[in-house]
Amino acid sequence: MPYMLTEEQQMMRDMVKKLAQNEIAPRAAEIDRTHRFPIENIKKMGELGLMGVPIPEEYGGAGCDFLSYIITVEEISRACASTGVILAVHTSVGTFPILYFGTEEQKQKYIPKLASGKYVGAFALTESNAGSDAANISTTARLVGDHYIVNGNKIFTTSGSDASVYVTFVTLDKRLGHNGVTCLLIDKNTPGFSVGKTEEKMGLHGDVTTELIFDNAMVPKENLLGREGEGFKIAMSLLDGGRIGIGAQGLGIAQAAFDVAKQYAKERVQFGQSIASFQAIQFMLADMATRIDCARLLVYRAARMRDMGLPYSKEASMAKMYATDTAMEVTTNAVQILGGYGYCREYPVERYMRDAKITQIYEGTNQIQRIVIAKQLLNE
Ligand code: CAA
Repeated sequence: MPYMLTEEQQMMRDMVKKLAQNEIAPRAAEIDRTHRFPIENIKKMGELGLMGVPIPEEYGGAGCDFLSYIITVEEISRACASTGVILAVHTSVGTFPILYFGTEEQKQKYIPKLASGKYVGAFALTESNAGSDAANISTTARLVGDHYIVNGNKIFTTSGSDASVYVTFVTLDKRLGHNGVTCLLIDKNTPGFSVGKTEEKMGLHGDVTTELIFDNAMVPKENLLGREGEGFKIAMSLLDGGRIGIGAQGLGIAQAAFDVAKQYAKERVQFGQSIASFQAIQFMLADMATRIDCARLLVYRAARMRDMGLPYSKEASMAKMYATDTAMEVTTNAVQILGGYGYCREYPVERYMRDAKITQIYEGTNQIQRIVIAKQLLNE
């Protein structure tokens, strides 16, 4: 009610929450401990249509609006942030590019498999010298006969070892800057393509993040997505939507941490009374709840603007920045409220804190979000 969701959106939340709390949350600590890709979560989400929530039914998706998808990412991330980011990247920047920029043939070939969860999608933009400066990529492609010959390396690729198709950004001519950037759909079994090293990370251990290696990889020319030289704008427009998804992930992590901290504060007795009766703890809980509420309003607003066909790039960056900063603040305070127990693996809040950190970094650091916001503010 307070977020004015439609009946369909509320039903989607109820369905996803049930799955997330009953099946995904109980596995999250083990996935974190063993650093394994949560394949059973992906399969289950595929069976329930959650790997293609905002994808039209004609391509095998659930045909729901973007806000329903955002609510799905929020509830899944509340249970397991690794599964949340796999879903978010798969949908926002792994499947949407084909839906929006693909030929009918590309859509028929890939989208039904992605929307059903048979395929996991990945997004390969970042390189060792092109992180925030995304236009500075060095992975090259050269058209020789019927194939693009691709050479170079990508890093930090979400689902790098488990994806089936990679939305990959290459340059046809580095001298052209962003106007040389081009997008190719690269299948996992492409000759000359391999998965490189897996990163050892602070958190999100179930999201297996890897390097990708292109060594004279032979990509059929019909796998060009959009037009040559259009790649940078494709990447930027996808990231606008992707950033709302990462905001939703931050929101889910923050809510999970708050729930544990509130419950613990009511149960933990010190100096003869529950610590929730102390104003120091009450003020922390009040600030945490208020920030989460603000973040949810920003995230849902950006999603609604996208659903309404309005420009939403600034609002997406505001939502991403605020919700992920909220995730970091709320998880840190949750650890503080639980004290020594919060620092131990027996409780989930230290995992939430480790998982939250990356949300301030990927899909554009929160400093980059401020650049996007300021640029638009000053142009309005
Ligand atoms: N939509 C469409 N076009 C856009 C756009 C948008 N949102 N933003 C910019 N453009 C266009 C501009 O209009 C401009 O076009 P013209 O040449 O016609 O004028 C062109 O793109 C270049 O724009 P800028 O000059 O603003 O580009 P820039 O080089 O200064 O970069 C930036 C801007 C905001 C810093 C951008 O590089 C950026 O967002 N960097 C962060 C990269 C990022 O988010 N990486 C995430 C990696 S993926 C990931 O993390 C996924 C994961 O696995 C979790």
